[in-house]
Amino acid sequence: MITFDEKTGIFHLQNDAISYVFQLVRGRYLLHRYWGRRIRHFDNARTFLPLDRANAPQPAAWENERTFSLDVLPQEYPDCGHGDFRIPAFGVRLPDGTTVTELFYDHHTITSGKPALAGLPAAYAQAEEAETLILTLQDSAGKLSAELQYTIFRDLPIVTRAVRFTNSGKEALELTQAASCCVTFPDHAFDRLVLYGGHAAERSLEREPLGRGVTEMSSRRGMSSHQTSPFLALARPETTEQQGEVYGVNLVWSGDFALRTEVEQFGTTRIVAGLGDFEFDWHLAPGETFQTPEAWLCYSATGLNGMSQAFHRLIREHLVRGKYQRALRPILVNNWEATYFAFDEAKIDNLAACAADLGLEMLVLDDGWFGHRNDDNTSLGDWQVNLAKLPHGLAGVAESAHKRGLKFGLWFEPEMISVDSELYRAHPDWALQVRDYPNSFSRHQLVLDLTRPEVRDYIVESVCAVLRSAPIDYVKWDFNRSLTEAHSLTLPPERQGETRTRFILGTYDVMERITSAFPDILFESCAGGGGRFDAGMFYYMPQAWCSDDTDAVQRQRIQSGTSLVYPPIAMGAHVSVTPNHQLGRVTPMQTRAFTAMLGCYGYELDITRMSEAEKAEVRKHVALYKRLRPTLQLGKFYRLLTPFAGTGNETAWEFISEDSSEVVLMYFKTLAEPACPIRILRLAGLDPEAGYRVTDYWPAQGLSHDNAGVQHLELKDRTYGGDELLYSGLTVEKVDADFGAWLWVFHKV
Ligand code: DGJ
Repeated sequence: MITFDEKTGIFHLQNDAISYVFQLVRGRYLLHRYWGRRIRHFDNARTFLPLDRANAPQPAAWENERTFSLDVLPQEYPDCGHGDFRIPAFGVRLPDGTTVTELFYDHHTITSGKPALAGLPAAYAQAEEAETLILTLQDSAGKLSAELQYTIFRDLPIVTRAVRFTNSGKEALELTQAASCCVTFPDHAFDRLVLYGGHAAERSLEREPLGRGVTEMSSRRGMSSHQTSPFLALARPETTEQQGEVYGVNLVWSGDFALRTEVEQFGTTRIVAGLGDFEFDWHLAPGETFQTPEAWLCYSATGLNGMSQAFHRLIREHLVRGKYQRALRPILVNNWEATYFAFDEAKIDNLAACAADLGLEMLVLDDGWFGHRNDDNTSLGDWQVNLAKLPHGLAGVAESAHKRGLKFGLWFEPEMISVDSELYRAHPDWALQVRDYPNSFSRHQLVLDLTRPEVRDYIVESVCAVLRSAPIDYVKWDFNRSLTEAHSLTLPPERQGETRTRFILGTYDVMERITSAFPDILFESCAGGGGRFDAGMFYYMPQAWCSDDTDAVQRQRIQSGTSLVYPPIAMGAHVSVTPNHQLGRVTPMQTRAFTAMLGCYGYELDITRMSEAEKAEVRKHVALYKRLRPTLQLGKFYRLLTPFAGTGNETAWEFISEDSSEVVLMYFKTLAEPACPIRILRLAGLDPEAGYRVTDYWPAQGLSHDNAGVQHLELKDRTYGGDELLYSGLTVEKVDADFGAWLWVFHKV
């Protein structure tokens, strides 16, 4: 899969789907040559033209060769200071204040499998599933070395990259930037796709033509954030959901990051992706190393869905670990939107009784069970149960849920501390802070200094003690604020610039220790909704709460955007009450249920207050979800229509079971329209030769036909050819109501 041709200097990473090619030239420089659909040999048809470009400096050794300049060459991991004026991949500050180093190729190794990255989340692979190339670069003055690590997967159109720096000199130096990868394309005929948003509005897709100059998608919040996502794609303008070329880059990192693109003077495009350089400085003493996070590079020739399906497989098969990697996830009820902080044992027990009666499978006790936390002013860090609320302790509520046949889950927010807490009174220095300026608050809380080993030990011990104290099956791990005054009282001055990075490394350490101590617990990450929805988190926790917005219409948008990178089984999605608590919108129960069925399904409302008619509907939805769960959670997912295209009024999702025998199709229409076109859905991924029998049909509620006394389309038990559904399509009944949702199930015959 990985070859090196000594004569030409060509490194070719290749599998059945893709090729990634770069070249060693003049024994020193690594130049990017090609990334895309697989080619058998790279024979340099796409040669470099030796042009004398004005103002393009020559490296010292080639002073008289005016056609050789780093200014125009597609360097695989560019430095700065030698005439490449585009975005560099790394930056260094030496003790004398200068910033110029010179990393040249030294040697390389090719091995099977994929080495782990010390202390960092990363994709993993068995020896036969991947091959890894490590190129060692040395600074010409012996001050620094770097290992560029590339892994290509045998069965996925994906290359992963990461870099490890070592101070190989005699004096300390500062790394001021350390990207995970750089790629250069010979043109810029691309649209740039990013996921942007805000709290309760995470991961909307923006697609814009790629313009000249530098663009950046980044986070400076100390978390991957609600506002931005560590993902970027370049798609050809003609690329659609199902067709065309797209290049996706995704980082396995939960903190500050920067994904930059630059279209330069000659129309080429460079992507540089990795850690952000905001307040970043890493002090490297002689002999010390620094490992960057991993970047995933995905090429798809089958549109955005092709990219998404590759990322979904990588996450499900090569990132998520442990028994929940393939385990079906339980249907839960969470008490947050049901009670907020106002609950007691009787209320929780009533919820459990009702949940069991409705066929749900897990009760989750959210925020407010510890210290004296009756609002969000207090008690974070004091992970002791509040016996005034729960007189029989956590074991009491957990065992009572178990007796009713339900699993039991519990909420934590381990990285945080309230000023009103025993923990803060004992250790005020344990919060991130600076000496002479007061801390800023967010939700009345501060952030623990996870750069400190004793703080990490306290978190591990206190959370583990709770998890040992009661039969707990699931944990929701929350994180409700961004970092401010992000410094540590214990780091020396030359290491203060490491705080933001060390905070995330500390978070990973704590997560690794706690999750590996409790391999039977299902962990769900959360960050005020979807503020840390990134691949780093999925290495430790197999699912994440998508958003604090549970409105079905908004969720169709959030979940469609999230699915660009993350698989449905990774997304926590719940049915909540109407009027919706975030937006006040009233939507039919069926729409809320089908929308939540995209992800790990649950309810988040006071189910004890539902009418009998509502409960009957819930039972039907729960039974349907249980029947379809293997296809919805483990199947292949397609976006057919997304709210980011056209008028944004329609969404359609399709799921195909692992054995291809079952197909679930969902369609949502936000607002009814006058003179509306008839929607015909063309399905994807079916076998054109096979027949597909409709085994379930759930038309939207409130159809005009009902009003006129007309029957719904008679679809049940009709069989259609796969080719007909693929190429001609299926008509959706017209609706005269807002917020409609339809669902079809097909079985291959
Ligand atoms: C933010 C989460 O996203 C919510 O679901 C809930 O757990 C609250 N925090 C609790 O404080």
